[in-house]
Amino acid sequence: MESSEYNRVMDTLLSLKRTGKVLDVGCGNGADSVFLAKQGFDVSALDISQTSVFEVFNRSRAANVSVRTLLEDICKFRTRERFDIVLCIGVIHFLPSSLVNSVLTYLQRITRKGGIHILEVKTSCLTARQLKKVYSGWKILVLKEFAPRKPFESRSFLRFIARKIS
Ligand SMILES: C[S@@+](CC[C@H](N)C(=O)[O-])C[C@H]1O[C@@H](n2cnc3c(N)ncnc32)[C@H](O)[C@@H]1O
Repeated sequence: MESSEYNRVMDTLLSLKRTGKVLDVGCGNGADSVFLAKQGFDVSALDISQTSVFEVFNRSRAANVSVRTLLEDICKFRTRERFDIVLCIGVIHFLPSSLVNSVLTYLQRITRKGGIHILEVKTSCLTARQLKKVYSGWKILVLKEFAPRKPFESRSFLRFIARKIS
């Protein structure tokens, strides 16, 4: 994500919530997790890749913040915890298409009422119409399509932010 876009999505998130439990699904190098931990959120960073989980661990230690790391496949992840914010940025299109709906439905289930989801996904994986259907009953706050960010990327992205209202 370009830094101005990055700031925009994080600014939007901070304008919606200032505290709470975050689940960063497919956290990658943990930049978002560590940023949010620095803002005072209680962050769990989940990734299927051991390298990513180590990176988040090291990055959070270097930043002197606490981030819980979960080495998990989101398609199999089950928890009794409930979250106020679920970030799922650049991840959904890596999942088997047959599991996308059930993963999103599970993430909705483990989100508290009033909680926020932030997704970025390739339109080749999920269209705006499909997202609206999966999130019927949620208040959609942002639904925006972006052109490919890099010349070698042929597909655009959707940014999606929604609030659980019941
Ligand atoms: C393109 S990176 C995005 C990282 C980060 N969210 C960001 O915005 O920079 C995709 C991440 O999703 C993770 N991932 C892919 N499939 C996954 C799965 N089934 N469960 C959990 N993480 C997964 C990858 O290991 C990778 O770290």
